[in-house]
Amino acid sequence: MNKKTIKDIDLKGKKVLVRCDFNVPMDEEKNITDNTRIVAALPTIKYLLENNCAIILCSHLGRPKGEFKPEFSLKPVAEELSKLLNREIIMAKDVIGEDAKEKAKNLKNGEVMLLENVRFHREETDNDPEFSKELANMAEIYVNDAFGAAHRAHSSTAGVAEYLPAVAGLLIEKELQFLGNALNNPERPFVAILGGAKVSDKIGVIDSLLEKVDTLIIGGGMAYTFFKAQGYEVGKSICELDKLDLAKELMEKAKTKGVKLMLPIDTVVGKEFDINTESKNVKCTEIPADWEGFDIGKETIKMFSEEIKKAKTVIWNGPVGLFEFPQFAIGTNEIAKVLSQIDATTIIGGGDSAAAVKKAGLQDKMTHISTGGGASLEFLEGKKLPGIECLMNK
Ligand code: 3PG
Repeated sequence: MNKKTIKDIDLKGKKVLVRCDFNVPMDEEKNITDNTRIVAALPTIKYLLENNCAIILCSHLGRPKGEFKPEFSLKPVAEELSKLLNREIIMAKDVIGEDAKEKAKNLKNGEVMLLENVRFHREETDNDPEFSKELANMAEIYVNDAFGAAHRAHSSTAGVAEYLPAVAGLLIEKELQFLGNALNNPERPFVAILGGAKVSDKIGVIDSLLEKVDTLIIGGGMAYTFFKAQGYEVGKSICELDKLDLAKELMEKAKTKGVKLMLPIDTVVGKEFDINTESKNVKCTEIPADWEGFDIGKETIKMFSEEIKKAKTVIWNGPVGLFEFPQFAIGTNEIAKVLSQIDATTIIGGGDSAAAVKKAGLQDKMTHISTGGGASLEFLEGKKLPGIECLMNK
């Protein structure tokens, strides 16, 4: 990586502002249902503690749209962090208000505090320079470790770097190392598996991966747009009629580039969008008019698995079916299983595919599960991430 990290500068005894992505899922009682992102922030925090820093953590949680809303408070994160680190986390009542400033000023080396949700201020998402300055004034060094928010050009993810020496944390370093190596220096065959509902969400990533991979496997809702583009009927399946030409162009590009583009050959269709709906396995060329496709079929699972088994590097982004409904989770679970068994570098893009792998209990069997949903997608698209670009070069 050409950006400086916390290991490249002397931060012994310094006051450090660390942007994390503590945007974690919670249930209605505000219990954290998946603490992966908090656990992923620990190596940086521990490193800073070993270096006797005073640590001011900050993050967003959800989208409170510039207003103080208690249901978006980071308090549950402070409690979880306190348990994981086995030390007190000083929780500020605000972000750049009196309480936060006072606590930041009095923070001693070896202490950790957490600011309230930065998105309680609209200035955060506006990347307002004054707000960035206020954040910067609390510390001597800025560390960005929020990979999941690195695609956002906000005050705490990018703007603040204008006013402080800015370096990457260990999570960002690790994410860039795994995702970057897979993209730029993959052991071949290199296979990408893309799922998710819509082609429109993945155009950039398909286009960019067609320059890099040997095989591109497409599943999930977006496969139906590709079927329709080939003239097949897709029944009530999700289909973007305005993207048919684009699907054809992408298939054409795959041919030109010599990339093997694999689409499902059969699919599991359901009568309606309901967890208990009647379902059946049909050929992709025979989807009945009043049925909807929700998963890849048995033959497709076999075909995709055979291809995946030959791979030496695999990137997976997006479930291949409606995995939230058990009867349509089989395809996604089987892909996760095959990935867990092969001798290859296996990289899981964040968001739903990471959730699916965890749901299948196979997270420990993957080489790397990204903590970034949108961020990992934008990275795979080859876009520059503002949260990385703003950091000091090596
Ligand atoms: C995420 O969960 O993908 C990140 O935390 C970014 O959140 P955002 O989409 O609300 O900016």
